[in-house]
Amino acid sequence: MGLLATRLLAEKGVHVVGGIARSEAKRGVDLGTMAGLDPMGVPVDTDAARVLASVRPDVVMLATASFMPEIYDQLALCIDAGANVLTISEETFYPWNTSPALAAQIDRLAKAHGVTVTGGGHQDSFWIHQVSALMGAAHRIDSVHGSATWNADEYGTDVVASKHVGETLEEFERSSTRDDAPPTYGRNVLGALAQASSLTPVTWESTVRPVIVDHDRPSQVLGRTLAAGAVIGYADVDTMTTAEGPVFTFEMAGYVFGEGESDKNEWSISGEPDLYLHNGVVPSYTTTCTQWVNRVPDVINARPGLVTVDEMPPLAYRALPLHRYVHDGKLD
Ligand SMILES: NC(=O)c1ccc[n+]([C@@H]2O[C@H](COP(=O)([O-])OP(=O)(O)OC[C@H]3O[C@@H](n4cnc5c(N)ncnc54)[C@H](OP(=O)(O)O)[C@@H]3O)[C@@H](O)[C@H]2O)c1
Repeated sequence: MGLLATRLLAEKGVHVVGGIARSEAKRGVDLGTMAGLDPMGVPVDTDAARVLASVRPDVVMLATASFMPEIYDQLALCIDAGANVLTISEETFYPWNTSPALAAQIDRLAKAHGVTVTGGGHQDSFWIHQVSALMGAAHRIDSVHGSATWNADEYGTDVVASKHVGETLEEFERSSTRDDAPPTYGRNVLGALAQASSLTPVTWESTVRPVIVDHDRPSQVLGRTLAAGAVIGYADVDTMTTAEGPVFTFEMAGYVFGEGESDKNEWSISGEPDLYLHNGVVPSYTTTCTQWVNRVPDVINARPGLVTVDEMPPLAYRALPLHRYVHDGKLD
């Protein structure tokens, strides 16, 4: 994600001033070269504090891990360095319902340093702003149902591991029902949707369903074939009831796709009238980064604190260099 975003940022006139990774093998390698571009004169470093102190970025694009407890220290480091943060950590997208204490701490810290922390990525348009717009065309809503799939094999090894790819069914059942299993991404999405629609969540229910196929399936990321009967990913099914009436269900399946499969995003609203949203083939890999990058000006413009995208306008196409959308004085 970070490498694709590097190209998109550069093409939108952003001055990329630093690159941070974890593995020693990447230290000193030029970020542009790593991203398949011409050299940028930006050597990747593994010491985040050193990079932040030396280049003083306006915004950090953070794509290291999915959950608030994992990235809390990384967020705090960026905030302490006076940088805004736009992350694609799935939980940070709307952490108020799954990690409220950490969310409140990040909010306080960001306000104290006058910077903004926002979670963005694929959820932004496809799961919040497009769905909110459709809801806005209804007179009465009884229920909202979303169904999305994405190919886990297009992302990094950590993502594949987090989707339990390659586990046996028994291993999956043990790991996915652990008390300390992380929250579903869907719960954060539904929390943001409720917030965007001024609805009050009352109850939550989350279930998981493994995806298994009866034939061998190659995984590009793992570099091996998953045997028939192995878990190739799973679906989260989240249900949220609201005090005002509408019931939301979101089924989100990330797994290793076979030939001919493509990501989808389909929503239906039951009410007056019934309404439907089908996005056809959704290139989620690319749209994660395009949305992440197009959000940059909004994050720099936003008030300090933890500001989730339900508080922001729908994403806008950025025909001009990104700094042209930043309010006067915000890049001084
Ligand atoms: N919201 C969305 O729409 C969306 C979509 C896709 C992915 N994601 C999330 O974005 C994250 C990244 O996905 P990806 O596919 O790009 O994963 P990836 O290929 O595994 O890349 C993760 C990167 O983060 C670096 N990293 C990890 N921990 C680090 C640390 N402590 N300090 C410095 N660098 C660190 C890794 O460096 P090394 O390679 O050196 O270890 C690597 O460059 C995942 O959490 C994924 O779930 C969100």
